[in-house]
Amino acid sequence: MTLMSVSLLVPLCASLEISTEMPLGLTSTSLLFSDLSAEILSARILDLLTQVELSSSRAYLSRLRSCRLGSEIQDLESEICSLRMSSSILECYLGSAHAPCLIPEEIGELPNLRELVLDATNLMGAIPTSIFNISSLVTLSLLGNNFSSNLPSNIGLWLPNLRGLSLAVNKLTGIIPESISNASKLTLLDLNSNAFTGSIPKMLGNLQLLKILNFVNNNLTSGSSASSPEMSFLTSLANCKHLKYLFINQNPLDGVLPTTIGNFSASLENIQADYCGIRGNIPSEIGNVSNLAFLSLQQNGLTGFIPSTIKALGKLQILHLSNNKLQGAIPDDICQLKNMGDLRLNQNELFGLIPECLGNITSLRYLYLNSNKLTFVIPTKLGNLKDILEINLSSNSLNGNLPPQLGSFKVAILIDFSMNQFTGNIPSTIIGLQNLVTLSLAHNKLQGSIPDSFDSMVSLEFLDLSCNDLSNVIPKSLETLSHLSYLNVSFNKLRGQIPNGGPFANFTVQSFMSNEALCGAPKFQVPPCHTSSFHHLRKKRVALALYILLPIASILLAMTFVFLFIKCRRRNKTPSNVDLLPTITPPRITYQQLFQATNGFNESNLLGMGSFGSVYKAILEDTTILAIKVFNLQVEGAFKSFDVECEIMRHIRHRNLTKVISSCSNLDFKALVLEYMPNGSLEKWLYSYNYFLDMLQRLDIMIDIACALEYLHHDYSMPLVHCDLKPNNILLDDDMVAHVSDFGIAKLLDLGESVTHTKTIATFGYIAPEFGLEGLVSISCDVYSYGILLMETFTRVKPTDEMFFEDMTMKRWIRESLPNAISDVIDANLFKLEEEHLTTIVLQCVSSIMELALSCTAESPEERINMKDVLATLKKVKLWYLANCGRG
Ligand SMILES: *[C@@H]1O[C@H](CO)[C@@H](O)[C@H](O)[C@H]1NC(C)=O
Ligand SMILES: *[C@@H]1O[C@H](CO)[C@@H](O)[C@H](O)[C@H]1NC(C)=O
Ligand SMILES: *[C@@H]1O[C@H](CO)[C@@H](O)[C@H](O)[C@H]1NC(C)=O
Ligand SMILES: *[C@@H]1O[C@H](CO)[C@@H](O)[C@H](O)[C@H]1NC(C)=O
Ligand SMILES: *[C@@H]1O[C@H](CO)[C@@H](O)[C@H](O)[C@H]1NC(C)=O
Ligand SMILES: *[C@@H]1O[C@H](CO)[C@@H](O)[C@H](O)[C@H]1NC(C)=O
Ligand SMILES: *[C@@H]1O[C@H](CO)[C@@H](O)[C@H](O)[C@H]1NC(C)=O
Ligand SMILES: *[C@@H]1O[C@H](CO)[C@@H](O)[C@H](O)[C@H]1NC(C)=O
Ligand SMILES: *[C@@H]1O[C@H](CO)[C@@H](O)[C@H](O)[C@H]1NC(C)=O
Repeated sequence: MTLMSVSLLVPLCASLEISTEMPLGLTSTSLLFSDLSAEILSARILDLLTQVELSSSRAYLSRLRSCRLGSEIQDLESEICSLRMSSSILECYLGSAHAPCLIPEEIGELPNLRELVLDATNLMGAIPTSIFNISSLVTLSLLGNNFSSNLPSNIGLWLPNLRGLSLAVNKLTGIIPESISNASKLTLLDLNSNAFTGSIPKMLGNLQLLKILNFVNNNLTSGSSASSPEMSFLTSLANCKHLKYLFINQNPLDGVLPTTIGNFSASLENIQADYCGIRGNIPSEIGNVSNLAFLSLQQNGLTGFIPSTIKALGKLQILHLSNNKLQGAIPDDICQLKNMGDLRLNQNELFGLIPECLGNITSLRYLYLNSNKLTFVIPTKLGNLKDILEINLSSNSLNGNLPPQLGSFKVAILIDFSMNQFTGNIPSTIIGLQNLVTLSLAHNKLQGSIPDSFDSMVSLEFLDLSCNDLSNVIPKSLETLSHLSYLNVSFNKLRGQIPNGGPFANFTVQSFMSNEALCGAPKFQVPPCHTSSFHHLRKKRVALALYILLPIASILLAMTFVFLFIKCRRRNKTPSNVDLLPTITPPRITYQQLFQATNGFNESNLLGMGSFGSVYKAILEDTTILAIKVFNLQVEGAFKSFDVECEIMRHIRHRNLTKVISSCSNLDFKALVLEYMPNGSLEKWLYSYNYFLDMLQRLDIMIDIACALEYLHHDYSMPLVHCDLKPNNILLDDDMVAHVSDFGIAKLLDLGESVTHTKTIATFGYIAPEFGLEGLVSISCDVYSYGILLMETFTRVKPTDEMFFEDMTMKRWIRESLPNAISDVIDANLFKLEEEHLTTIVLQCVSSIMELALSCTAESPEERINMKDVLATLKKVKLWYLANCGRG
């Protein structure tokens, strides 16, 4: 039982060679390298090499004997090994989980102990310093326990034989003592996932035999400063002529890569430094690390170009540079990397063309270029990538047709070309890919029919064709896709019958919204199919029946329509010129229905009051819950406001904007039927007793709002200014996804126009100075309000709070709290549920968010940041937060 969990004693260093002959990332070793994060990788290496399943205590004892060296102390040692260690460790195991497991200080009395491996044995407390005096030790592994001490400052002085040291996945604190570099035989040094602080020792270069260095997920710095930003420990590591794996992800290194990385030994195969706050350029000297197979610098602040010297890294198989600020074009030089299997350059600022020569890298399996500024067409030569598994080109500005050559991605499992400007038809060759699991072509300008050859796409689980100009019918062959669990063809011009069979049983109206003339089952909220063109009716009898029934049905329909039409107005008023305004989507809802659904616009159904009217909760007969915004037509401007909101809502659709489902309008009654947001407003969540949003929820909400604004400002054909952002106008759905609502005073800026004048008054406190004073509206006004909203969300103080008067504004209050007094302004509730060690992380996050808020609220509109950059920054803050609070 207990003994089995003590894995012991296989000489570690004898077998430290890990073959990299097999291409990393591409074959069986690939599992090891691409599926395991670096944090656990070296732990796993150690594991593989040391773990011996001990199936009986006999095996355990015989292993223990193997640690006896000198004959004189044989007996003593065996006694110590088997008794002292077992007595304490076993005791805590056999007893209960409550008994503390400590390593007895006497462990240091095992003078000839060679290997001590107590991985994941639930030990805690301090590591006895006497362990580091056992000079016979070759392997010391205490991985995956709960040790929480500092390391002794002389740790390396008495360990001349130590080759493998793993203290990974504990709670060790303090600095990594410089003396570690005196343990000169170290080949593996694994301290990942602890809470070490301070700078990485500069003398690591003394460890001449070092092969694996893993410092992932600590709080280590690089010792760099403003005057010497370069990370000098890397220069020192260049002296380790055997260094193969360098893993330093998730540490606040905050430095610049030194050019001396060009002096890294040819032995170096794997560098991973994600989430390290690395700034500056990638030095061109990277090209001299000639045997590099895996280079990952994701989620840093790297700027500048991808150096062309990268072409010299002929063995490179994995290159991850995503989530940086890299600029310029993708250099053709990359195409010379003939072993490249996994190229991720996503979320940078790369622009220009996708190099045609990428088609030369036939070894490519993963290609991620999404979220850049790439333009022009997809080169047909990409069709050469016969082994590609995943390709994401989403969120660029690519255009032109999708080349049929993409059909040669025979083994592909993921294709995402969404959020571009592709035109033309969907090539039927793509629809034939048998291994494809995910296909998204959403948010493009694709036209024509959806090809009807889905039968062969047997693996498809996710298909998103929404927001295009696709016309004609939904192919019946989709019914054959038994794994399809997500389908979205909404916002197209499709017509005809929605199929019923197979996966369609599980789809809802969401999949088909806003098309031209779909018909089918009532649950899709479309009319039933009537005409023969919607059916494949061949039998004459049926056709005959139709000839008779159709006219009757049409008459009935027409009558119903007239009936509803008349009802959508108040009793005893003359039917007036009913406005056939934006019927956004069926079903049309009558005044009577609204009246009933809101209990006669009863006060108990009132959700809120706005400047132009009231919002009611409505429960339809089929229990659908909706929100009804009734415009108060007595208020000046309400007519206009209704029209504006209808007009705008007719055009825009976004996950983070409230959807208009229908409208009801005549001369004296105007209402919009909106999606109901069960979780109410941000206002409620911030200020009502008993409601609470944690750090992550607030971040997510602000990211959602930023997404919506980014869309309104930059992605929508004409920039749209919301003009009235405030917590009351941010609504939360079931999943706490935020939706920006109330477009009553929104402004569409005409093409080419960047500023317009208005007399409308937005809400005091959130309004940008130039808007308030001069009525100048531009997208920067929203950015300003957004900045105030950011401040409010994380401080839980309103900009109109009475503490702000005369010169003291919210902005000034925040500005003066930075950088050191952020804890005075932050909403103290944010600490309520957080563990103590997260406090600093929350503070750091909120500091960066407040910095951002200040750039949003710059006095002059020209100086304000734009929503694209706001969004990018917030996303980074979130990732940083997740990485550091360990929930990522
Ligand atoms: C560490 O201690 C915590 C409680 O303090 C416990 O939940 C956790 O399982 C322990 N971890 C290990 C690896 O023993
Ligand atoms: C380790 O050994 C050194 C030198 O022999 C000695 O000074 C020190 O006290 C020892 N430390 C412990 C904890 O035994
Ligand atoms: C430890 O290493 C440092 C730097 O190489 C050296 O100056 C010092 O003498 C070493 N100490 C011992 C006890 O070997
Ligand atoms: C990380 O280290 C810095 C100083 O280097 C310290 O201020 C901060 O509290 C540490 N954070 C954690 C989570 O230990
Ligand atoms: C790096 O290598 C170059 C050329 O071999 C050498 O001149 C330089 O001194 C080295 N730099 C360091 C810091 O070792
Ligand atoms: C680095 O590579 C360049 C070109 O590949 C070469 O000229 C230079 O000598 C190399 N430097 C070192 C230190 O190896
Ligand atoms: C690589 O691609 C370029 C441009 O597509 C082409 O001219 C060149 O011949 C290709 N090179 C190889 C080695 O295939
Ligand atoms: C592709 O990239 C886009 C934009 O970065 C991202 O939103 C999307 O989730 C990615 N697609 C897949 C399937 O991972
Ligand atoms: C519908 O969904 C359920 C549960 O998600 C699943 O078990 C079932 O197979 C699905 N039905 C079809 C026809 O896909």
